[in-house]
Amino acid sequence: MSSDPSRSSRIPRLYRLAPDERLERVADAAGLSADRLTAGGITLEQADRMIENVIAVHGLPLGIATNLQVNGRDILVPMAIEEPSVVAGLSFAAKLAREGGGFTAEADPPRMIGQIQLLDITSLDDAQERILSAKATLLDTANAQDPVLVRLGGGARDIQVRIFRETLVGPMLVVHLIHDVRDAMGANAVNTACEAIAPDLESLSGGRVGLRILSNLADQRLARARCRVPATALALEGLSPAEGVQRILEAQAFAEADPYRATTHNKGIMNGIDAVALATGNDWRAIEAGAHAYAARDGRYRPLSRWESDERGDLVGRIELPMAAGTFGGATRAHPTAQLSLAILGVETSQELAQVLAAVGLAQNLAALRALAMEGIQRGHMRLHARQVAMAAGASAGQIDQVAQRMVQEGTVRSDRAEAILKELLHG
Ligand code: MEV
Repeated sequence: MSSDPSRSSRIPRLYRLAPDERLERVADAAGLSADRLTAGGITLEQADRMIENVIAVHGLPLGIATNLQVNGRDILVPMAIEEPSVVAGLSFAAKLAREGGGFTAEADPPRMIGQIQLLDITSLDDAQERILSAKATLLDTANAQDPVLVRLGGGARDIQVRIFRETLVGPMLVVHLIHDVRDAMGANAVNTACEAIAPDLESLSGGRVGLRILSNLADQRLARARCRVPATALALEGLSPAEGVQRILEAQAFAEADPYRATTHNKGIMNGIDAVALATGNDWRAIEAGAHAYAARDGRYRPLSRWESDERGDLVGRIELPMAAGTFGGATRAHPTAQLSLAILGVETSQELAQVLAAVGLAQNLAALRALAMEGIQRGHMRLHARQVAMAAGASAGQIDQVAQRMVQEGTVRSDRAEAILKELLHG
């Protein structure tokens, strides 16, 4: 992570500035030079080279969450998201955690798992033995595909064999290739390596190769974050410090007890992680898939985070989840806003990014639980939501605030009401 000690994520009243002024303040705080500030997104031509049948470029707001501190470093967090309150929520929760020293985070080495399916095998156990005894050759073949990755310190690390004696189509052997992908998300490197070793696996097993593809359950590439929030910081909404902590513990207990709640609890975590993944050009669907599978790893769907109180009565939170995110390759490289986002974050390696993402997930979760357990989610959502409803009902730039304000005052934020207010404005 950038070791520039002058970087600060504390930018009070950032919300009061106009977007171009904010960009300047953020660039200043992140120590970025003016030539890095290409915040315009991609052109139609660039889009046309990314996917098929392009007709337009689809935009999303890019907001900056403030106050985050991870492993003693201040980090401004770029978030691409359409949902109001997420950016403000993260900034608020990061400030609470800052009072307890911010977040500490760590990430495993960037090891992905590639899977090769083998069918029509006469003896699964013999095939397993032959494959494992050829491990060194298989790893060499995988590494020969990507000398650059190997030179950077990555490459194939291990071969594991999993036996499925009964499946819908009979016995099956699945080989796992553990591949260190360094700063990439890694799908390309892993898939290429899997395809390269597949013919050898076919002859070693005497069977037939089926699928060759990475697994999104990246449980060899976990990221973890922790934080402590002093109880005094939770004396909000007229609650005592102990009551503030207790409200969060009750929310946690709900998520532990009930998968219906755990799903929403985890959705709140992913609000933050996905928004940063999207801002940095990462495959957020891969991260989502890994997170939810990991949440259900012991057969029951559980919350990815845990909040407890410590011996002082302070609130302590931790999170652990797979984090297949990269700082190199794919859209991360090709997308100018992704490059800008990475520069604002000040992270270089995929492990640093994974640490930030874990901290963001935990902070976003705290923001949601705090709001839900202390004031209800609607109050905070109302103003921004009202603006969106007003806009959707056809309010012009000059009318949006007026219509939104009326709806909030009346306590009715609905498109029919927005339309009625607009009609009133039109006809005096
Ligand atoms: C809304 O996008 C996310 C929350 O529902 C998360 C949660 O309930 O913990 C507020």
